[in-house]
Amino acid sequence: MAHTILAQTKTRNARQEIPTLPAPHVLGWLGAFRRDPLQVLTRAREHGDLVRLQMGPRSLYVLNHPAHIQHVLQDAHRNFSKDTRALGFMKKIAGENLFTGEGEFWLKRRRLMQPMFHRQSIALFGDVFTRAADEMMREWDTRDAQQPLRVDEEMMRVTLKIAGQGLFSVDLTQEAQALGDAFSTANDDLIFRVQHPLYPPPVVPTPRNRRARATQRSIEHIILRTIRERAADPLARRDLLTLLMTMRDEETGEGLSEQELYRETLVMLFAGHETTSNALTWAFYFLSQHPDAESKLRAELDSVLQGRAPTMNDIPQLAYTRRVLDETMRLAPPAWVLGRMSLQQDAFGEFTLPARSMVLISPYALHRHPRYWHNPDTFDPDRVEFAEQPPRFVYMPFGGGPRLCIGQPFALAEATLLLASIAQRYQLQLAPTARVECEPQITLRVKHGLPMRLTRRRETA
Ligand code: HEM
Repeated sequence: MAHTILAQTKTRNARQEIPTLPAPHVLGWLGAFRRDPLQVLTRAREHGDLVRLQMGPRSLYVLNHPAHIQHVLQDAHRNFSKDTRALGFMKKIAGENLFTGEGEFWLKRRRLMQPMFHRQSIALFGDVFTRAADEMMREWDTRDAQQPLRVDEEMMRVTLKIAGQGLFSVDLTQEAQALGDAFSTANDDLIFRVQHPLYPPPVVPTPRNRRARATQRSIEHIILRTIRERAADPLARRDLLTLLMTMRDEETGEGLSEQELYRETLVMLFAGHETTSNALTWAFYFLSQHPDAESKLRAELDSVLQGRAPTMNDIPQLAYTRRVLDETMRLAPPAWVLGRMSLQQDAFGEFTLPARSMVLISPYALHRHPRYWHNPDTFDPDRVEFAEQPPRFVYMPFGGGPRLCIGQPFALAEATLLLASIAQRYQLQLAPTARVECEPQITLRVKHGLPMRLTRRRETA
């Protein structure tokens, strides 16, 4: 259906320039986007389905129609590269890997890694998810209940631990703090570089560059140690690292070098924990603000689990728990914007998109589009759009097309079991000191963190 709209509009002859959102400043939207990108993306959405933003000397095009998005991410995806400024910096740090790679390279890696993320493989991780939740809550049990807990930090730690254990069979408990801090610094640095493209390149020893290099080295040290330990006995486990280590190129017969293994491991740890962690953090925030949803969640957990810890087999019955997550990722999608670069000129209906244009797709703006959602800014896990399946390329927390998130089944199972385990045992209330705002970094974080008070609910078996 969406494709038909595009095909029909494509047949019109008159070519038009893409409408421009009137800018507040001679430099266009540059400053405003830096300060509050979510507001600018929302303004662009209000202006139309396809909107040009002036960004200093450059133009940026924002897409808000599912047919256009399907075109970019799926139908004409070969004409839209991931070669954006942010990805360029990521490549400098993490080299070519499944996330940053393109073309044949990407396809080979994707085919190789896909089996790890099939439903049957994910089923094996159930214990990893619930054990990690249990260990975290045992620690919570010993805390002073009066002291607020930084839920954002706890979620970051537990998802990092799960990514390490689930994908690479390593226990990163000792390193979690150092790795978490290092990922956080790398995250800040990446945002800084995207916003300050003229800043001296990493090889110039400025204080910032030196700090960034030290961070990189500490991550490298931890990951390389894991790879070297496993190299002694690559078949000791059946996990992603084994898969990567035993992979051979069909033509050359060569395996991945240590550096290549490092790059894939790094991206999986990075992509695989911060997104899920933010989704859970926002879920606890929304639940604390919506007691009705919280009671329904608790009723489902009591009825399905009856006091025992959840397992993978319970997931189909935990329908409301899942809807809480879906609705959370609607209002606060961890990947709040996706970027692509057009290689050749392209057509969107009567509009022409020039070659080498930067295109933005914002799940954040789309997930609140009044054309597709009733009361778009209201948190409502029972919303009718989920019952009816929202149109493709309108609800897209995991992206779409061939570059759809490979970790989606892993993330959904992990988030469902963590949310169920925690909400069953604790009620989390927002601390009076909390100031909750969105912080759109690489992922959508909670600015100033999320301090919450915990109240123990009941014993689990
Ligand atoms: C709630 C959690 C998650 C969200 C919202 C999320 C979101 C996304 C999105 C939107 C993309 C597409 C980016 C683009 O098209 O530019 C993506 C790609 C990717 N994600 Fe996730 N992700 C999550 C969890 C995970 C997990 C748990 C893993 C690994 C275990 C993972 C690994 C990746 C990788 C490797 C890619 C690149 C795939 C490719 O290009 O072939 N993600 N993710």
